[in-house]
Amino acid sequence: MKRIFILGTTLCFSSLVWASSVHSSELSPRQEGTQAIKLLGKTLKSSLIEKMHLDATGTAAMTFCISQAQTLTAEVNTKLPSHVEVRRTSLQIRNMSNNPDETDIQVMQTFKKAVEEKKSSASMMREVKVGEVTRIYKPLLVGKACLKCHGENISPVLNTTLNAAYPEDNATGLTLGDFRGVIVAEVAKH
Ligand code: HEC
Repeated sequence: MKRIFILGTTLCFSSLVWASSVHSSELSPRQEGTQAIKLLGKTLKSSLIEKMHLDATGTAAMTFCISQAQTLTAEVNTKLPSHVEVRRTSLQIRNMSNNPDETDIQVMQTFKKAVEEKKSSASMMREVKVGEVTRIYKPLLVGKACLKCHGENISPVLNTTLNAAYPEDNATGLTLGDFRGVIVAEVAKH
C-alpha cells in the first residue's frame, strides 16, 4: 500500500515539476525526451502496480492494460510540450497500435544484442537523429512484474483474455531479464 502511495506521489510530483519547470527551450532534446519517458513510464507502471495489488490473478491489471494503456499514453502526450511525443514499441508486438518503424527496429536490435551479450542495463539510453527530430530511446527489460502477462506460463484465464484481445499477440514466452521493448520520445526542433 505504502509503495502505491509513494508511486502516486512521485507521479503527481513529476507532473508538477513539468508544469513549473524551467522553460522547455532551456532543456536539451535529451533532457526533454528523458522527462517525457519518465512521465509515461511512471504513469503506466503506477497504474499497473495498483491494479496488481487489487487482484493478484492479474485479471484486473490485464483488463486495465487492454483498455487504458493507449488512453493513458494519449493523456501523457497532452501534458507534454507540443514538440515532444512519447510512445512504446517492441520487436515482439502485442498491440498493433504500438508497431515499430525502421529506425525503431534498428535501435531495438542493438539493444537486444547488448542485452543478450549482457552488455546492457535498463538505464542505457540511446539518442538518434531522424531529420529535424531527435529520438531518445530507453530499453525495457522483463522484470518479475512483467512475467504474469509476458512470460512463459501465462494462466489460462489471462491467456483466454489475451487471445481474444490480440489474436496475433507476439509478446509472450519471455523470461526474466529479456529485452522487452522501448519507450521512445521524439523531440522536434522548435
Ligand atoms: C497485467 C498484464 C500486463 C503486465 C503485468 C505487463 N504488461 Fe505489458 N502489455 C500488456 C498489454 C495488455 C499490452 C497491450 C496494450 C498496450 O499496452 O497497448 C502490453 C503492452 C506492452 C508494451 C507495448 C508494446 C506491445 O507489445 O504492444 C510494452 C513495451 C510492454 N507491455 C512492456 C511491459 C513491461 C516491461 C512489463 C513489466 C514491467 C509489462 N509490460 C507488464 C499487459 C501487461
